[in-house]
Amino acid sequence: MWTVATIEECREHRAALTGTVALVPTMGALHAGHLSLVEAGKQLADHVLATLYVNPTQFAPNEDFDQYPRPRDEDLAKLERAGVAGVFTPTDAVIYPPQQLPVDIRVPAIAATLEGESRPTHFDGVCRVVTKLFNITQPDVACFGRKDYQQLKIIEAMATDMAMPLRIVGCPTVREQDGLAMSSRNAYLHDEDRQHARGLYKALSEARHLVEQQGETDPATVEAAMQNTMQAHRVEVDYAVVRHPHTLAELDCIEPQLTGGVVALVAGRVGDVRLIDNMVLAEQV
Ligand code: PAF
Repeated sequence: MWTVATIEECREHRAALTGTVALVPTMGALHAGHLSLVEAGKQLADHVLATLYVNPTQFAPNEDFDQYPRPRDEDLAKLERAGVAGVFTPTDAVIYPPQQLPVDIRVPAIAATLEGESRPTHFDGVCRVVTKLFNITQPDVACFGRKDYQQLKIIEAMATDMAMPLRIVGCPTVREQDGLAMSSRNAYLHDEDRQHARGLYKALSEARHLVEQQGETDPATVEAAMQNTMQAHRVEVDYAVVRHPHTLAELDCIEPQLTGGVVALVAGRVGDVRLIDNMVLAEQV
């Protein structure tokens, strides 16, 4: 497995690969969820490339950029064992040379809601770095976790509208045994908070039961049930909503047969840690 830090070296190694390439962009602190993206990439292309870069522009000044875990050697060993062909692991100076004028790429229709409300600059940073990583690594397909559902929808919209020559694939969320979605930020959870964190998955399971088993059509009823479940687990609720699965627009009525399913999305604080999760309900295949 090659590991390179400059754009020139990455382009050289990429050009030497024959066949198709899948990209798995990551910020490191890798867990089974990331490794499942590598597995998906192996099914979709001849080679898998990964990027390892904690992108400063997607963190607000009050967020956890400095504390974000960076176990670089362990991450590289995991990627090598998983069968990744090469890793691009740039420095900030490579991605954001100080003399360069910054460019924003924005998907205003979806980026302002939900995560965008508490993290107004987050998706601008994600779109900017993901565009750069695509341009540097030139993949045929890129794999993203459905765990970050809003990010996935924004990247799909960006790639389509900007005519980016690659396919975006959303991969299933990998969960702990009790349902907690795997996330690099779970490492911040202390013992008691780890128990409470199950409240997010419980809330989503409750929504699934109401929509899929009970045929509930009122979004407010489902949202109130999710909120109660989260609060019962001592999760400080940021949002607990049911939305259109592609546009994330609010719904007057839950009609999965018309919208191709609905997505339940939750965010909340457990102790000091902010967690997000989601579940697509009554998905029409
Ligand atoms: O999902 C992530 O880990 C990051 O947002 C990404 C896509 C690697 C961009 O920094």
